[in-house]
Amino acid sequence: MRELWYNNGEFMKRNTLRNYIQELLIDVLKSDFPLHANLDFSLAEPPNRDFGDYATNLPLLLAKRTGNKPKEVAKTLIPRLQGLDRDREAAFLEASERAGFINFRFYPEYLLKILAQINADGGGFRASQAGGGKKILVEYFQNNVAKPPHVGHVRSAVIGDSILRILRYLGYAAESDTHIGDWGTQFGILLSAYKEFINSGGERTQIASSPIEELNKLYVVTTQKIEDQPELLEKGKQEFAKLEKGDTENRSLWEWFVAVSAEDFEKYRVLLDILPFDHALGESFYLDKMPEVLADTKKLGLLTESEGAQIVNLEDKKLGVAIMVKSDGATTYLLRDLATIKHRISRQKFSKILYVVDSRQAHHFQQVFEIASRLGYVKGSGMLLHVDFGFMSLPEGAISTRKGSVVSLKNLIEETQKRTLQIIEEKNPSLPKKNMVARQVALAAIKYFDLSHNRKSDIVFRWDEVLDFEGNSGPYLQYAYVRISGILRKLGQPPPAQFAGRVKKIAFDQTEMRLLRKLAKFPDAVEDAAADYMPHIICTYLYELSQDFNSFYEAVWVLKEKDKELKNFRIALIAACGTAIQRGLGLLGIEAIQEM
Ligand code: ARG
Repeated sequence: MRELWYNNGEFMKRNTLRNYIQELLIDVLKSDFPLHANLDFSLAEPPNRDFGDYATNLPLLLAKRTGNKPKEVAKTLIPRLQGLDRDREAAFLEASERAGFINFRFYPEYLLKILAQINADGGGFRASQAGGGKKILVEYFQNNVAKPPHVGHVRSAVIGDSILRILRYLGYAAESDTHIGDWGTQFGILLSAYKEFINSGGERTQIASSPIEELNKLYVVTTQKIEDQPELLEKGKQEFAKLEKGDTENRSLWEWFVAVSAEDFEKYRVLLDILPFDHALGESFYLDKMPEVLADTKKLGLLTESEGAQIVNLEDKKLGVAIMVKSDGATTYLLRDLATIKHRISRQKFSKILYVVDSRQAHHFQQVFEIASRLGYVKGSGMLLHVDFGFMSLPEGAISTRKGSVVSLKNLIEETQKRTLQIIEEKNPSLPKKNMVARQVALAAIKYFDLSHNRKSDIVFRWDEVLDFEGNSGPYLQYAYVRISGILRKLGQPPPAQFAGRVKKIAFDQTEMRLLRKLAKFPDAVEDAAADYMPHIICTYLYELSQDFNSFYEAVWVLKEKDKELKNFRIALIAACGTAIQRGLGLLGIEAIQEM
């Protein structure tokens, strides 16, 4: 049997049964219907799980092309599939026709083998090698120097961290970069604001006590003043020009801003409990690479002048005009992004770059990607991807991390932790290490709430949903894991790896069958989540799995079961569920805890 489970070291492209069926279907198409070899058929879960585990619309599509009845097409396809099944693996599935679809269903023998694999040495669902070591860069949590992160940065952190974990799990050589925003005209404004502050008697130490807040305040006040005093903007631009030319005073002040900000970002990273970054190359890292990009653009005749600025005209693609260098000579965010791409592809050898950035920057990335492709920095499409996401707000309005506003990130975590602690006090007052548990549960609640929604949609942060211990929430899943751990602890022995013996011959309870079938789909859920960088697919999977687990646990005896073989089987089922939940939560950056 193919090692379908991510627990051996061999490289396999077709590492799920679903992929294998897909290949067989393509083989049949090619050999029997060469005219329609490129038909874009589906192989997915049927709308109703009573129909089976997978369903394909291939007969329906072929019938349309050939003028035959779907039923007849299905009837000829099924034996052909079985005939092509060299590896005798399709034999693990029962295939039948229904309404023009072929439905596949796992045979119980297959499911029992899978169960044994999940509980085998070291546990199943360990990393796959499907990614084949392909180098992918995931860019997220791109904070800006001298500014506290806003909710978009936090979403980026949580989503990016999960995507990185999923890709690594699937065997990609995935690396992370925070790409700090540390360059641009705003630093000229900040420099002039800071100098003004010092000139009017301010002290550096006043800033140093809480640098990010204080610098941000200076910046915000100055940008407000600019509305009535445009000369302040001019001053800012001059300071930035000096900075770009390497003025020592400006440079050393800027270095100070960058250093204190880096410390602050690290605090946020730890607070959010996300993985450390592999790279932290700010926008300024690419300064000396910008002239090269301008030269490339000129050479290809893409650069034109417009009102003193240097631009690339993208009107033919309805993408407007992209400004590379402003009329005052200042470099732009866009130009820095192009220099960054060139470096990442030609020097760092990434074959794909993911930008986890909120959807407001969609137009910016469209421009950047279009120019990068005209410059020949990328080959084909799909090397650069804006992994965009929507807004998160509170019922009463925006979540802002700036001072004096509704909620800061720190407050949000603290408040969630406080509310969690209250629930623990009510439900389980004698729990040891309550504070630590409350922090883990609070982080799970916040991250899961964020990740469980399709990243593209806007979401409203509602406490009753975030902390809903009975609904689709992080704490609900953690609680399912706690229950499982409790049961296994009570047994006081590791789950039996081998149990199959007699179990084969007995009728499964429906809840057992459903749970087994769900467990067998763990790898599908991870692959689907990776295909479009959509962590919510894993959330949905885990939620459904936990529901199936709860129904099972209500329906059958485990500890009190007299039949030893049956009892062992059920224990194995519980242990496998625990493994799936723990690994799944791990891919979301959420800790599975033993007690709560
Ligand atoms: N620092 C930017 C911001 O906060 C986001 C950077 C996104 N990444 C990029 N390569 N442009 O808006």
